[in-house]
Amino acid sequence: MKKIAVFTSGGDAPGMNACIRSVVRTAKYHQIEVLGVLRGFEGLINKDFIEMNAASVSNIIQRGGTILKSSRSPEFKTVEGRQKAADNLRNESVDGIVSIGGDGSFAGSKVFYQEHGIPTIGIPGTIDNDLYGTDYTIGYDTAVNTVVQAVDKIRDTADAHDRLFFIEVMGRDAGFIALRSGIGVGAEAILVPETTTYIDQLIAKLQKGWERQKTSSIIIVAEGDDAGGAYAIADKVKAKFSNYETKVTVLGHVQRGGSPSAADRLLASHLGNAAVEALLSGRKNEMVGIVNRKIVYTSFEKAIKHHQKLNQELLDLADVLSI
Ligand code: F6P
Repeated sequence: MKKIAVFTSGGDAPGMNACIRSVVRTAKYHQIEVLGVLRGFEGLINKDFIEMNAASVSNIIQRGGTILKSSRSPEFKTVEGRQKAADNLRNESVDGIVSIGGDGSFAGSKVFYQEHGIPTIGIPGTIDNDLYGTDYTIGYDTAVNTVVQAVDKIRDTADAHDRLFFIEVMGRDAGFIALRSGIGVGAEAILVPETTTYIDQLIAKLQKGWERQKTSSIIIVAEGDDAGGAYAIADKVKAKFSNYETKVTVLGHVQRGGSPSAADRLLASHLGNAAVEALLSGRKNEMVGIVNRKIVYTSFEKAIKHHQKLNQELLDLADVLSI
């Protein structure tokens, strides 16, 4: 292995820069050349390449976003697009790839490896934490902390005005951000795509709170909840239960930015290093993750298909603490 390419793809996540730094510095430690690919799969197709060395990743460990930029690439979903990408990489004599992203990125990397055989190791970088084969994905911890800080502020004003707030957090298909942040802020209810939301049950809970003189409440809604987003659910509740004045806040992309937490920087540093070591030891077509504090490798196939399950103990805990 003499030269590797590295890119970030899909939704960016805080800690991606710390991860790029770790990949580049580990490669340089082993005297391997590094080609940075800008804008993920789009950059592979458009030959958007930059040479990287130890200095290119100075002073980025603390920065959100990704210096390599990111995108979602429709062209890479075509055979022709992937052929262009493979030709470009071969012209650059690249013999290994590190792909940092979420399930969409690994789905792309899996097909690309099957068609063109360039060894690829994936690193889980997404705020959603929805990949199988790692306890945590890069960016998740920071996103949860961002939500907690924002909701604490909303709690102040909710309390001052005796209001009921529905707060929507990210998670198109997964409730990890909602669950962990919901417990962290002491939410009265947490609604996630993985479990069915019953509006009547939610109203019964709010009614109970109302009866015991609760003056304000916070409901955390994952954007992909089966009963709809925060606006839709607030409307359904208001139609049957109008005791509280109700407000909706959608936190949106604020959750994707910001300086990564210490936990994310450490995770990113470990995984970036492990990905390069994995390529050196001949591994390919796998995602590297940390489970129970140990580095593990999971095939792309499994990582994207099996999605990590929501922790039932945390779901139960949220229920008990929100009586
Ligand atoms: O990064 C994953 C994710 O945050 C999802 O939870 C969310 O639905 C999506 O990205 C939003 O992506 P985009 O920035 O393309 O709107």
